[in-house]
Amino acid sequence: MGEFVSGEQISRMAGVSRTAIWKDIQHLRADGYKILSQPHAGYRLVGSPDRLIPQELRWNLNTQRIGRAFYAYETTDSTMDVAHRLAAAGEPEGSVVVSEGQSKGRGRLGRNWFSPKGKGIYLSIILRPALQLAEIPFITLMTAVALARAVEAQTGLKPEIKWPNDLLFNGRKFAGILTELNAELNRIHYLVVGIGMNVNVSSSALPAHATSIAQELGERVDRVALARAIFSQMDLAYSQFLEEGVQPTLEGWRTFAGFLGKRIRVVTEGRTVDGQAMDVDSTGALLVRTDHGFIESVSAGEVLVAR
Ligand code: BTN
Repeated sequence: MGEFVSGEQISRMAGVSRTAIWKDIQHLRADGYKILSQPHAGYRLVGSPDRLIPQELRWNLNTQRIGRAFYAYETTDSTMDVAHRLAAAGEPEGSVVVSEGQSKGRGRLGRNWFSPKGKGIYLSIILRPALQLAEIPFITLMTAVALARAVEAQTGLKPEIKWPNDLLFNGRKFAGILTELNAELNRIHYLVVGIGMNVNVSSSALPAHATSIAQELGERVDRVALARAIFSQMDLAYSQFLEEGVQPTLEGWRTFAGFLGKRIRVVTEGRTVDGQAMDVDSTGALLVRTDHGFIESVSAGEVLVAR
């Protein structure tokens, strides 16, 4: 992980005494950092804690917007609620609330989001895009693409995006997105984008229709590295959207949307639409060729894919 650095060198760089450095090293060890010390050679970092703490998340992160501030908790009710409180008090775009565990993690449609401590990634990002209300679903779609790219880059496994907000491996969900809005009729104040990901959750703790990345990969996943990859990919996709519009993200989305062309049923606002999944439009709405031959655009709902 690193080279040996002498205590003297560190104390010169930091401008503090060698005794102060020694104390800091003890604190870092207590925080879970593995640091070797050798007489005459100095100290060497050989392991970092598997914890989603600001100094770890920030390390080597070259983002423009996402991750400008981190609020990290050991446990909280829901990172969504914390992010809403911060945003209402004027927190700028790009701030992230992350928690090791949640006691009231929530999903879409009033469902719970199982959030065991230290096993997943549970975070909320504050965004303030200048969008029309009808364009908001695009943000969920963009987030799904960013998550899929981050997971693929870190693990080599290619997830599938199930419209609008689920990420799956072999038909089993391992991540979801919850986009909540604070707006007037025609003006968005802010968005909170919530991301929940089963990373190292063991399959025995999950229902049959769910999975985790570790379960699919067969080994533990570095949550800190994955979280950093999520911030980078979110930042890229969001910047690209602000500068170039929706097309690049839509193209990315199509490469992960395995259900395109398949027969689907969409349950939306109390009715069902049966047909073939065709594409998404620029607002993130799903286009379905119905059995009556029309193209219907569906902006919210739940997709069932026929076997
Ligand atoms: C879904 O698939 O239904 C969306 C799940 C979103 C869960 C995340 S975990 C972090 C953030 N805090 C919450 O309470 N929910 C979101």
